[in-house]
Amino acid sequence: MDLPSIFKVLFLLDLIFLPLCVSSYPKTLRESLDRSSLPDNFLFGVASSSYQFEGSYLSDGKGLSNWDIHTHTPGKVIDGSNGDIAVDQYNLYPEDIDLMDSLGVSSYRFSISWARILPKFGDINKAGISYYNKLIDSLLLRGIQPFVTLVHYDIPQELEERYGGWLSPRCQEDFGYYADICFKNFGDRVKYWTTFNEPNIQAIKSYRTAHNMILAHATAVDIYRAKYQKEQGGNIGIVLDCIWFEQISNSTADMLAADRAEDFFLNWFLDPIIFGNYPAEMSKILGSNLPRFSRNDKEKLKNGLDFIGINHYTSEYVQDCIFSVCEPGTGASWTEGLARRSQENDGVPIGKPTDVDWLHIYPQGMEKMVTYIKKRYNNTPMIITENGCGQLNNPNLTIVCHDIERVEYMSAYWDFLLLAMEKGADVRGYFAWSLLDNFEWSYGYTQRYGLHHVDYTTLKRTPKLSATWFKEFIAGYKVEESQI
Ligand code: FCB
Repeated sequence: MDLPSIFKVLFLLDLIFLPLCVSSYPKTLRESLDRSSLPDNFLFGVASSSYQFEGSYLSDGKGLSNWDIHTHTPGKVIDGSNGDIAVDQYNLYPEDIDLMDSLGVSSYRFSISWARILPKFGDINKAGISYYNKLIDSLLLRGIQPFVTLVHYDIPQELEERYGGWLSPRCQEDFGYYADICFKNFGDRVKYWTTFNEPNIQAIKSYRTAHNMILAHATAVDIYRAKYQKEQGGNIGIVLDCIWFEQISNSTADMLAADRAEDFFLNWFLDPIIFGNYPAEMSKILGSNLPRFSRNDKEKLKNGLDFIGINHYTSEYVQDCIFSVCEPGTGASWTEGLARRSQENDGVPIGKPTDVDWLHIYPQGMEKMVTYIKKRYNNTPMIITENGCGQLNNPNLTIVCHDIERVEYMSAYWDFLLLAMEKGADVRGYFAWSLLDNFEWSYGYTQRYGLHHVDYTTLKRTPKLSATWFKEFIAGYKVEESQI
């Protein structure tokens, strides 16, 4: 029997012995992992974020965040749920660290809730500092490196109310103030910082928001470099959503359109942070609609990161809309670069569809994306900060552990990641999204991304097949490493 058939049989068994959740896992799908392509100190990790995991949204002096307000507004989340409890990591973190320890990961990516640290602007909430101190110390006790994001979408609601959050340049200074508090309190133990998670998704279609976020990033990096980095010896970067854009035909116009799509999506942030200015193509198309960087800004921006955080899940086709007439759609308008994005070509999807509408499986996109970033940004160190696959929550099944699709997804994406690394891409880590099933933003609890299943009534965590697969994958690497 071939491996996929074995998985299918296991899946059927799972339906019969549902609550048992057997973790008998046939050897890794990969036949030929060239482990020598991974550097010795490669970070194997799992990722999370404060709003999706912590819960305790009003405990111990925490202030309200924009997501607390958003999810409590009827109609914003498809199942009407919120992150008030989420997966209760605020209380259950010791148990979650046990799970990480069992996986054998070397790092945990989490974000700090700004509203927990600064419930009212200016006043530090000691209980918030103490929570993250406990989390960081407990991770380090197990040899797990904390990998910290300062903003993973949630910011204090107060900032929204005072000046519209990222819409105002005032956020730059306030973000710097918050970042400084984090570096000062946690930086003696945190060696990996990122300012933002996916600002290119948060700022979609708002050039002003992006401009403020880019400068806010630079403000925090400046503070880190000037006051902390030398003494604390850490690294700082930013995490972008990285969709690989495949030209829909082999015409030159579509090739240029695919490049343009990347300019308007990814290079929009990375070019200013690394080179000090927006991509030339963007400036040409948008003209005075694109905010400008002053000479001072440009100086401050240059080389504004130590590594690039890559969240990569999927790929899209791109069609040129300058020389051909495009149907309306994402990317087609001139403010989006006249490069229409879609996951289908003549009705044929770019890759195997999944339960998540935007996520098609196109593992070769991983190699192409990493190689593209390597070339454009001169092989700046890269870390895969998120990669994973979502499955629909089936309310009729209390537990589903044989997530074969996720194992196949991760295994295939790893193949192509290794290919990119074998060709010289400087990739220093990989984080699976996610440690646990969790609150998936406007999809609520309808989608599950965890290596561990969470029963949302009891909050019980149970390893899925993918947890066993990842554990064996990491262990295999570590064995090799010690043999070198
Ligand atoms: C990413 C987000 C993360 C999670 C995954 C599925 O874009 O950074 O919080 O929602 O998608």
